[in-house]
Amino acid sequence: MLKIAYLLPGGEVLEIVSPSDRDSVMELGRRAGVPGIVGDCGGFMACATCHVHVAPEWRDAVGSASEEEQAMIALTADPRPDSRLGCQIWLHPGLDGLRVAVAPH
Ligand code: FES
Repeated sequence: MLKIAYLLPGGEVLEIVSPSDRDSVMELGRRAGVPGIVGDCGGFMACATCHVHVAPEWRDAVGSASEEEQAMIALTADPRPDSRLGCQIWLHPGLDGLRVAVAPH
């Protein structure tokens, strides 16, 4: 089981436990009803409704966005160097405790 913390724009933190490591940050957040994690396109990098900012201490572990992902992030309201699409962050044991901020839409 992995625990992921979602920081909401209002400052609230939701800690969600994933029962498996086959989740993405988007799938886990959407299933748990995290506000702002919508996942309209189902994880195909076509909507950016899963946009998150990765906490600084987790950026190396999460890795960087692909060129295709970066192109979609550039279309969002708040693109930053720490931006990722939650549907492209696949959970694994090394990401237990991951902290992401839900980006404003
Ligand atoms: S769910 Fe649509 S881009 Fe991530």
